[in-house]
Amino acid sequence: MKKILITGGAGFIGANFAHHLMRHSDCVVTVLDKLTYAGNSASLEKLPRNRSTLVIGDIANAALVDELVGSHDTVVHFAAESHNDNSLRDPAAFIRTNVVGTYELLEAVRKHGVRLHHISTDEVYGDLELDDPQRFTETTPYQPSSPYSATKASSDLLVKAWVRSFGVNATLSNCSNNYGPFQHVEKFIPRQITNVLSGIKPKLYGTGKNVRDWIHVADHSSAVQRILEAGESGRTYLIGADGERNNLSVLQQILELMGRPNNEFDWISDRPGHDLRYAIDATVLREELGWKPEYQDFTAGLASTIDWYKEHRRWWAPSKQATENMYALHEARASEAIGS
Ligand code: NAD
Ligand code: DAU
Repeated sequence: MKKILITGGAGFIGANFAHHLMRHSDCVVTVLDKLTYAGNSASLEKLPRNRSTLVIGDIANAALVDELVGSHDTVVHFAAESHNDNSLRDPAAFIRTNVVGTYELLEAVRKHGVRLHHISTDEVYGDLELDDPQRFTETTPYQPSSPYSATKASSDLLVKAWVRSFGVNATLSNCSNNYGPFQHVEKFIPRQITNVLSGIKPKLYGTGKNVRDWIHVADHSSAVQRILEAGESGRTYLIGADGERNNLSVLQQILELMGRPNNEFDWISDRPGHDLRYAIDATVLREELGWKPEYQDFTAGLASTIDWYKEHRRWWAPSKQATENMYALHEARASEAIGS
């Protein structure tokens, strides 16, 4: 029975992945998570106790990481500061967790000869024009725009260097925008759903023309499991499900599914440096590893995500007010800066 260490397993994608492994493997998992504002132990409550353990701790703590890595077969590394807007206001934690934390994990897997799978993002490739026929592939040059994506790019490069220089057994994956249950209310889709549920008008940045390539989190989990089974060390795999949509259309769909007029939202000031479009070409993953996404009906996935937030108010309500207060503060500062 495999022992898998999941870093960041109390966050959105890590928690979904832990549940996925319980259903689709017989492994035991340890979640290592600092429980920052983005981590929620309630997301792990339904994991079977005999196959899962939560260790609350920091991936930048070398001694803790060394001890935990040494007692596992595989590390799947999700832990990160993950929100672009936060990285624009205060990048320090992004450097510490995303860069230094990844370095500590690399040193530990190197010492103990443990397999690593590093979870990354399509944002490392920068952005595309709306009419560009190209999509991101495994050979697209790195060109990150935000402090968040620059730290993720840095962590990817560290992993690649540790493979080449020290023979570490590691794979990487760069995925597009995920949606589904357990996503923090700071992110676009859950923010707008929980705004409607809280009587707050949804907020759309800039022109609303920015395109994201949406994938259901369950498909991200199945792709990572497939890479663990069949991926080759040193290789990068792009994960995406051909889900390009602009923000305005996603927001209007949320409003319609929730029975609200589709113009009942506020246009607000744009994110500085806002990437225009992401698009993933996942041909390698599909053709070489035989993976395919199951949740291709975006409307159905969005409707079930809305139902999940309706049914799990106790999960998200404690962080909603603080998140909206933080957004309001920064929106006010941005307006002042424009006025001055
Ligand atoms: P998230 O913010 O929901 O969760 C991150 C988790 O990491 C939280 O539980 C947090 O407590 C934990 N964490 C943060 N700092 C830590 C530290 N120093 N030590 C231990 N734990 C720490 O993020 P997410 O959306 O689930 O993203 C997970 C990973 O997937 C990230 O690496 C992110 O870059 C990547 N990714 C996310 C998306 C997306 O759409 N959300 C897409 C592609 C890739
Ligand atoms: O592409 C993968 C990335 O997707 C991951 O690496 C990141 O961790 C994840 O957060 C996500 O990044 P984005 O910046 O694309 O996600 P976010 O949910 O913050 O925003 C999605 C789009 O919606 C983006 O164009 C900004 C816009 N937006 C966001 C918020 C929070 C709005 O218009 N209004 C909002 O209130």
